[in-house]
Parts: sequence; C-alpha cells; structure tokens
Amino acid sequence: MDPMTTSIKNLFAHNRAWAAQMEAERPGFFTGLVQQQTPKYMWIGCSDSRVPANLLTGLEPGEVFVHRNVANVVVHSDLNALSTIQFAVERLKVEHVMVVGHFGCSGVRAALEGARIGLADNWLRHIQDVRDRHQSLINGIAEEFRCDALVQLNVIEQVVNVAQSTVLQDAWSRGQNVSLHGWVYGIHDGLLQDMRVTVTGNNGLEPMYRAAIDSVAKAPR
Ligand code: CO
Repeated sequence: MDPMTTSIKNLFAHNRAWAAQMEAERPGFFTGLVQQQTPKYMWIGCSDSRVPANLLTGLEPGEVFVHRNVANVVVHSDLNALSTIQFAVERLKVEHVMVVGHFGCSGVRAALEGARIGLADNWLRHIQDVRDRHQSLINGIAEEFRCDALVQLNVIEQVVNVAQSTVLQDAWSRGQNVSLHGWVYGIHDGLLQDMRVTVTGNNGLEPMYRAAIDSVAKAPR
C-alpha cells in the first residue's frame, strides 16, 4: 500500500503550488531567507490549530519566531520554552515577545474545571495555580464567562513569568530594546485583544500587573 494517503499527497501538492507561486511573485524570496532569519517578533502561543501565528498577523516566513504549547504556559523550569526565548532574544534580537492566549482554550477550560484528560493534567496544573491564585476574582464572575477570564489571567501571569526569566532580566539590564506583550485572540471573531501588560524593562511590572488583573475583574461581560 502506498504510505502516502490522498490527504498527505494533497499537502505536498499544495506545498509545491505555494512555493512556485511565491517564487513567481517574488523571485529570490526563498534564497533570501537561506542566509539568515531576522524576525522582529517572537510569538508564544497555544498549540491550538485555530490560532496560526503567521496567518492572523499577516507575517511571512522569516518574520516571526514561534513557540507553542498547550495553553501558552511559560514555566521557569521548562528548558524548551526558555531555550527558545533565549535564542530569540539573545541571538535573533527580536524587539517584541508576545504571549498570546485565546478564548475557548480547551486546556484552560480543563484546568478551570479540574477535568482529568491525561498526562497534560500535570502541565495544566500550572494554570490551576493561576486559577487558585485568583479564585475570589473568578468566583465573582458569572459562570459562563469564567473560562474567558481565566484565559486572560493566564496570559497576564505568563507575561510575568517571561518578564521574570533570567533571559529578559539580563536583556533589560544590558539595555536591550525588547518589549513583552500579553494578548488574547478570539477564535470566534479572529481579533486580537491587548491585555495592556506591555513590559519594556526591569521596573514597573507590579502596578501594571495589578491594573491588568483589575481590568479582568471589572470587564463588562
Ligand atoms: Co488553547
């Protein structure tokens, strides 16, 4: 039996057509990317198939460095995430790092409800820590909107985690120009929302964090 099923063959067919079209429209596009990548942006997002970093920001190959995992979590002991962030900040010198959550995140929902889904339960425990830290805030929100609120709180907390990493702390100490942002993407409308937790240096994180958490509590729903 041919190991290439029709659906996989289609992917290769689309790929050849895409590469040919890119080269026809902009000769030298691919060879120009061979020497180096110089992305200005690093995207830390959820693995969810409905949240394609390049597509929804109009960024092309070479323009955004991407790290994705279940529910866009950045843990201080996660060498995968930290190595990726370090490469982006220290080698590629990206100017913006964005942590991007999304409404309707099934990882966040599972964490909120304490659902058992398997190995990922241990990963989602980090989001349950976020939930527990803000339990009274969450309790004050109508049940149908609690998942959206936890998505937003999780983004704010993960921005803090990235800001407190040695990579960003050292970059800012060196005076490197790199900003950290927290966004939430709506899979229902395709729009990005800025959580207003843009961090540009070693100072001022605390009041911004408080204001952002407060805005989640007071958001009209
Ligand atoms: Co998700």
